[in-house]
Amino acid sequence: MRPIRKAQIRVVDFGSQYTQLIARRVREMGVYAEIVPYHSPWEVLTAGLAEGTLRGLIFSGGPQSVYQRGAPTVCPEVYQAGIPILGICYGLQLMAHQLGGQVVPGPIREYGPARVEVETPDVLFQELPPTFQVWMSHGDRVERLPPGFQVLAHTEATPCAAFADPRRRLYGVQFHPEVAHTAYGRDILARFVFDVCGAARDWDLAAYMRELIAWVQARSQEGDILVAVSGGVDSTVLARLIHEAAGDRMLAVFVNNGLLRQGEPEAVQANLRDRMGIPLHYVDASEIFLERLRGVTDPEQKRRIIGDTFVDVFIQVTRSIRPFQFFAQGTLYPDVVESGASLGPSAVIKTHHNLVEAVRSMGMEVLEPFRELFKDEVRQIARLLGIPDDVIHRQPFPGPGLAIRILGEVTPERLAILRAADAIVEAEIRLGGWYERLWQSFAVLIPVRTVGVMGDERSYAHVIALRIVESQDGMTADWVYLPEDLLRRLTARIVNEVRGVNRVVLDVTSKPPATIEWE
Ligand code: XMP
Repeated sequence: MRPIRKAQIRVVDFGSQYTQLIARRVREMGVYAEIVPYHSPWEVLTAGLAEGTLRGLIFSGGPQSVYQRGAPTVCPEVYQAGIPILGICYGLQLMAHQLGGQVVPGPIREYGPARVEVETPDVLFQELPPTFQVWMSHGDRVERLPPGFQVLAHTEATPCAAFADPRRRLYGVQFHPEVAHTAYGRDILARFVFDVCGAARDWDLAAYMRELIAWVQARSQEGDILVAVSGGVDSTVLARLIHEAAGDRMLAVFVNNGLLRQGEPEAVQANLRDRMGIPLHYVDASEIFLERLRGVTDPEQKRRIIGDTFVDVFIQVTRSIRPFQFFAQGTLYPDVVESGASLGPSAVIKTHHNLVEAVRSMGMEVLEPFRELFKDEVRQIARLLGIPDDVIHRQPFPGPGLAIRILGEVTPERLAILRAADAIVEAEIRLGGWYERLWQSFAVLIPVRTVGVMGDERSYAHVIALRIVESQDGMTADWVYLPEDLLRRLTARIVNEVRGVNRVVLDVTSKPPATIEWE
């Protein structure tokens, strides 16, 4: 539950990895946009149309071909509804296909950068240069235009790189205006949103935050609110916002699962309780987590056990404190949206659902004030609430913690080795001024043993891998080549200071094909 906003722009998701980016770009322009799956019922697809609050639709890209059996589609009445539509990639092809044009496999696939040449500087391309770079990702192309449409732009390989039927306010671009590699992508989206749809700027995070606070304040009159915190950015900001709204009618609960980094339980408590004045209940449940993980080596089984144990511990703790009417958690928009690209790591989803079900069965109502927000929007709210910068800029840390960074069984000895190595990585990366420039930088324990010489003796000890990546959103990532002296210092410190490690290796794989975590 949370205050509901009326979307002016609705993004219809056909499964593109960029769907969320489209909605974010529109919001960055100050216009509230939401995402719905392509198979949404008519009432959802067109909600707000009759009242005039919905101003336009954007059809996302998608991995399929429109002419394949069972390819995603929308009810064709939408083209007659008088609402402006912008189709992107698959979205353009779907419009062509449904409106009487023809889409065929192209002679060559076009992936990556291409130069677009504008033929008609119609609304979308007004005042843009006649040629510029765009980002393409498609195998099909429009062979025959639907009646009423004209080509607006082409590339060398694609005769129809953009089209329009301005009379019906239907537009399409074969390239991706939402990605940073398309020059003027934001301008093209803005032309559609403002000039074609006539949307007004209505999305102001500071105003939305005030609405959230007022709403939580009203709810807190009905009963006390429990907030689950992990120490990460989202739940910390949530706890701070709820504290602002509900004061002592809220309590944050932080469960130590025994899989946290060195000094983390203390740091999280100090941040929340001492620096932000948030009432906090801390539970050290390390033993039960480690007990249940004993002998387990399969990564997905580790995740399941950790998720289920968290639910058990949390519910038990909650019962022991005092009755709460509400349970709040920092679920974000990407966790909610039913998009192929937004399903995220399965454990998060599973734990989330398990916890929500358990909480409901105890008679508590679930509050998810950040359900409409993207992570960068939560960071902006954090700034508005005066949350310290170092908390806002913490690197993401997975729910299953160090368990998925120890290959094989999680034991207290292995945890101790990884914690010590990881603490050195973090300290050196911070000292070198790299911490905030990286998406994640951490150590992984590979518990195979290799031979080494230390002093005059041969050693036979474990390997630490360094995983250091940059990324925009965790969906794709690239490894980072740190300065050699920093790498040397890091490595030397790990093998000298961490007992049980005699070798350090560097992971130089991007995502895809590898993932960021090792399990
Ligand atoms: P991968 O390893 O899939 O990670 O490239 C992408 C991002 O998600 C985080 N991650 C997780 N977060 N539970 C979480 O809460 C998980 O099971 C999990 N697995 C990966 C990872 O740290 C990275 O930021």
